[in-house]
Amino acid sequence: MNEVLSWTTAPVLVIGAGIMGAGIAQVAAQAGHPVFLFDLREGASSKAKQQLEMTLSGLVAKGRLSEEAAKQTVGRITAIASLEEAGSALLAVEAIVENLEAKRTLLRQLEELLPSHAILATNTSSISVTAIANGLRHPERVVGMHFFNPVPLMKLVEVVHGLQTQQQVAETIFELAKGWGKVPVHAKSTPGFIVNRIARPFYAEALAILQEQGAQPHEIDACLVAAGFRMGPCALMDLIGHDTNFAVTQSVYAANFFDKRFVPSIVQKELVDGGLLGRKAGRGFYTYGPDGAAVPPLSAVETRPVVVSRDVVVHGSGLQADWLANAVVAATGGNVTRAPSSVTVGLVAGDFELVMTDGRCAWEISSAHPERHVAVFDRFNPRLVEHGRPLPLAYTAATAEGAENARSWLAALGFHPVFMKDSPGLVVARTIAMLANEAADAVTHGVCDEFGADSAMKLGVNYPAGPFEWVRQWNGDLLSSCAGIAQVLDCLDAYYRGERYRVSPWIRERAAGAQPPLRKDAR
Ligand code: NAI
Repeated sequence: MNEVLSWTTAPVLVIGAGIMGAGIAQVAAQAGHPVFLFDLREGASSKAKQQLEMTLSGLVAKGRLSEEAAKQTVGRITAIASLEEAGSALLAVEAIVENLEAKRTLLRQLEELLPSHAILATNTSSISVTAIANGLRHPERVVGMHFFNPVPLMKLVEVVHGLQTQQQVAETIFELAKGWGKVPVHAKSTPGFIVNRIARPFYAEALAILQEQGAQPHEIDACLVAAGFRMGPCALMDLIGHDTNFAVTQSVYAANFFDKRFVPSIVQKELVDGGLLGRKAGRGFYTYGPDGAAVPPLSAVETRPVVVSRDVVVHGSGLQADWLANAVVAATGGNVTRAPSSVTVGLVAGDFELVMTDGRCAWEISSAHPERHVAVFDRFNPRLVEHGRPLPLAYTAATAEGAENARSWLAALGFHPVFMKDSPGLVVARTIAMLANEAADAVTHGVCDEFGADSAMKLGVNYPAGPFEWVRQWNGDLLSSCAGIAQVLDCLDAYYRGERYRVSPWIRERAAGAQPPLRKDAR
């Protein structure tokens, strides 16, 4: 601990005064470190310092920062024109161009200039920390310190361990990041680390649904926002830029030796090839004007009052089934009979069956009950339901009457039904099952532990819950939750074939009743 304390005022060298480097310099200076800021481009570090001064003055003017704190922060930063001026630095954080050779060359140079116990950290978002350290005299002092953009606001820091990173070095950076007001999470140096790996299905499943004409971008976005995500995947890809998002997907795909799990999408490639890069280009999935995106509204839904000719039976147990039973009573005033032993959640009213997706398509369910009109709706979070929330709904072409019933029923229950192609897991269940599965694989591969994955996804990309929180909420207890997720993935696998939807051993084991103890430190 003493050793950690001695780091809290250690001089820090930040190399690269671009978007990330400027932010890293700011948080280090705000935490009390003297900071040297260097950039290869002449004048870039001085300009970044001036820019920071202006930003902090703005915060002072708004009363969000004291004049003294702003002055001290800026005063701690020295823009330097040559690396030699930073010879006393005990921590170097590089945020230069994302290129392996450039980073290796820089770190070799730093090895000569800085004290032998200085830590060399890299903010790389996609290059192996092990590879960056290769060839150095002391690769054990190289560690990833992966910040998120914008650095002053985003809490997450992935502390990335290369194969040769010394544990003490990683722990020092972990504690230091905490002192900088961040939430650090340990990660193993593997493609995409935690966030960029686990987040891939959020984009990939939306792109797959688009490719097969399952739903429109604004429909997918509306349904995932209704499920609690701050932004839908299409709007988010537009914001990130399709070129950047596509490059990360390609890099994770290639780095995993072309594992089909991570295969990029031709839908996105077309956008990139056409220069429709998203918000920055004025057009991506949506068209952007001075007032923001032109997002088409969801289609209006015509419904008729639901006719309750006899008792409604609500199937299944758990949060959603309970919510459904109450909502049916509220909507119809009629009687509800419960069938809690049913493995699916849904309702049966006469010859009409409305089922919450368990991965099976409506046509598969209706083949078991040919006498019924069957429709499938997506998973929903009962805690988030408020009137008019969009919810995907699918039915088979053979049951058009069922569709009308489904639309009216869903509207009566308070949702805005969004019709989409009849496919496994619709939008929400499919996306969340895949995110949980990728997180489970990351843990299986020792990239991070469950807690790390949850923190990283909530703090790095603002997910409304962590993937393991979703796992635990899916069906109440861990065994049936994992069984439920595995079923959605198995249905996707049976439908599409290929490696993409293979179930993680972490999920499979627990679905079978094996409950290995949680590992607190999976590195
Ligand atoms: P940027 O292009 O805004 O800034 C990079 C800066 O480094 C430029 O000012 C450039 O002149 C300077 N530079 C390039 N080579 C140099 C060298 N050899 N020595 C000194 N300075 C050099 O890039 P950005 O976005 O700040 O990214 C920097 C690093 O951070 C990259 O490794 C990137 O992958 C990573 N990163 C970026 C994130 C983002 O959202 N932009 C998020 C997390 C990590």
